[in-house]
Amino acid sequence: MVLRFVFTVVCLIGGLHDVISRQGCCGPKQWTGVAIQKLGRYDHDLDVASLADISTNVAYDYVAKKISLQQKIHNITTDNTDLVHVIYDFKQKTEYTITNGKVCIATPISGEMWPNCVPEDASHLGTYNISGPVVDVYRVVTPGGATVRFSVTYELCYPGTESLLTSGPVYDLTVSVYENVTKGIPDPSVFNVPVFCHHRQMKTNYTSSTITELIHRSLLSWR
Ligand SMILES: *[C@@H]1O[C@H](CO)[C@@H](O)[C@H](O)[C@H]1NC(C)=O
Ligand SMILES: *[C@@H]1O[C@H](CO)[C@@H](O)[C@H](O)[C@H]1NC(C)=O
Ligand SMILES: *[C@@H]1O[C@H](CO)[C@@H](O)[C@H](O)[C@H]1NC(C)=O
Ligand SMILES: *[C@@H]1O[C@H](CO)[C@@H](O)[C@H](O)[C@H]1NC(C)=O
Repeated sequence: MVLRFVFTVVCLIGGLHDVISRQGCCGPKQWTGVAIQKLGRYDHDLDVASLADISTNVAYDYVAKKISLQQKIHNITTDNTDLVHVIYDFKQKTEYTITNGKVCIATPISGEMWPNCVPEDASHLGTYNISGPVVDVYRVVTPGGATVRFSVTYELCYPGTESLLTSGPVYDLTVSVYENVTKGIPDPSVFNVPVFCHHRQMKTNYTSSTITELIHRSLLSWR
């Protein structure tokens, strides 16, 4: 079981050939990995395009109900690099964004944490073996309106690749490859919230999101 990471599948639509046993596969309840990402952005209103390279250390803990995303974001267009650490604490219903170790924004969240499963409404697009482990590929449209295509390994349901496309006026295409995904949380201190983060509250709206969307949202919050 494993990371269908983001979702649970209903492969009913997707194809009867595969699957029964893998529908709704779930990844580990606790895992870490590195997402290597490329973000292409087109701002329709400003007619400006830009690119960023992102490396995100992900720690996902469904038991503690916490997610840590430690991101190194290199905006290729401006040649600017930022370190952003986002900690989601679903029990305390708060999200913390710490930028370059200095600025912290705490934001209330209202959604539940997504289980590490392929979502019920994901469409199964096929099963592939492309020089590596066999993966199942799915597509899902998230509550936020973004289209996510993602693959999970056939055997363990670990995350493989993802692409996420948001709709305008700012169009973002994020492509991610997960590396070194392992079960368990070797270093729980990644979830520690710096003291200076408290007392900084800002109201926002939150809809529950897949990991991909959370990573994406953290990019937006950094902007
Ligand atoms: C790069 O930085 C510029 C200027 O801050 C910003 O407008 C743009 O959205 C950034 N692009 C990406 C892909 O992060
Ligand atoms: C993927 O395909 C190659 C070539 O057909 C095969 O050797 C390999 O065992 C396959 N991988 C898996 C995990 O089935
Ligand atoms: C994955 O682990 C290997 C071996 O520890 C390391 O060399 C590599 O840099 C890691 N990949 C990422 C993206 O961190
Ligand atoms: C939050 O959502 C509500 C209902 O959709 C909306 O009326 C409100 O303006 C939103 N607030 C913010 C800060 O976006």
